[in-house]
Amino acid sequence: MKPGDRKQLEQYLINNFEWFHRHPELPYEEVQTTAKIRELLTEAGIEVLPYPLATGLVAVVRGGKDAGSSRNVEKAYEGKAAEGIAGVSGRTIALRCDIDALPVREEAAVPYASGADGVMHACGHDFHITAGIGAAILLQERREELCGTVKFIFQPAEEESHGALKILETDAMNDVEQIWGFHADPTNAVGVIGIREGYVTAAVDRFLIRVKGTGCHGAHPDDGIDPILASAAIVQGLQSVVSRSVNAFHPSLLSVTRIQAGTTWNVIPAEAEMEGTVRTMNREDRILYEKRVREIAERIADAYGAEAEVIWTAGPPATWNNGGMARICEETAKKLGMRTVPEESSMGGDDFAYYEDRDTMHRDVPGCYVKIGTGVGHPIHHPAFCVDECVILPASVYLAGVLTAALCDAGDRGN
Ligand code: NI
Repeated sequence: MKPGDRKQLEQYLINNFEWFHRHPELPYEEVQTTAKIRELLTEAGIEVLPYPLATGLVAVVRGGKDAGSSRNVEKAYEGKAAEGIAGVSGRTIALRCDIDALPVREEAAVPYASGADGVMHACGHDFHITAGIGAAILLQERREELCGTVKFIFQPAEEESHGALKILETDAMNDVEQIWGFHADPTNAVGVIGIREGYVTAAVDRFLIRVKGTGCHGAHPDDGIDPILASAAIVQGLQSVVSRSVNAFHPSLLSVTRIQAGTTWNVIPAEAEMEGTVRTMNREDRILYEKRVREIAERIADAYGAEAEVIWTAGPPATWNNGGMARICEETAKKLGMRTVPEESSMGGDDFAYYEDRDTMHRDVPGCYVKIGTGVGHPIHHPAFCVDECVILPASVYLAGVLTAALCDAGDRGN
């Protein structure tokens, strides 16, 4: 491929996007996907770091060898004194692209539809891969001008909520000062970027409650302890957390999504089981929910003479967009003639949040996660979800622009 030839790059990226779309793989099974990403990056002369990852990989584009020199720093700051900001020039930042698909049977009418039965790139991660590769190629082409290092994290198993932890088992993030992420957005047209400072995705926790009573004849409930009645009261009680325990200005929710008990109409069973999820934006609320769910389940069960066991499984925390980084996203969009809109916050989660989580990272890693309009259509995870291929090159250019600006930015790195 001829460096600088955008038309050729666009066709190359579209061809490869179609390949990824045709070859979707489930979380932790992204073997072919990883091999293809490695092949494309290697072809472009981009270094892939030798981590022992079963799936997913980390690549790196290193800025020009004199990236730390005052010449480049001055160039980057357009004449501002290099003094005091020289240290910034050598920083390392990272872009995360998730690569897994979903167990969805494709219904999209595209000529490059999934070739794997019952598996589909219904969340646009094929677009994330391709735009990530596009951005890497663009930065590699002008790496001499780049004042720092960019790592490209092609992460497995986002849909399982814990793929980020596989990357974090390596030392890939040790020198990373900022983490960038993005997602396909089928609620916006191509050329529109959703940006917001603050919380954009929720913490995802899961609970399982087992209510143990005593089975008996349906006609003689007085002979036993009915776990179904206790469970019904627990479901009602759990909904009081959002309305009575949490600050009304803090978004949160609890959903009981599965409840099971009994085998027939005239027997009161000995046990009932329910499962659900809690979504919060704020760390304190998350702790509060776990405490209240346990108290409500255990004490209501007790009041009915039953016993409740609560199993709490913590998922990724909430994603918080750093203000300074969100501004870089805004400015880059403006420079490229793209339109920006306030990013929709979601009670959905993304394990992107682990990369910026203090409890996981043991330090502050500011992050920013934007939504890239991929053409208005079916929502993500829908069997007919589809990405407008026109977005692939502009998204690559945009991401390369954001990363370049971030490396040159001396500003706000704190909040
Ligand atoms: Ni996704």
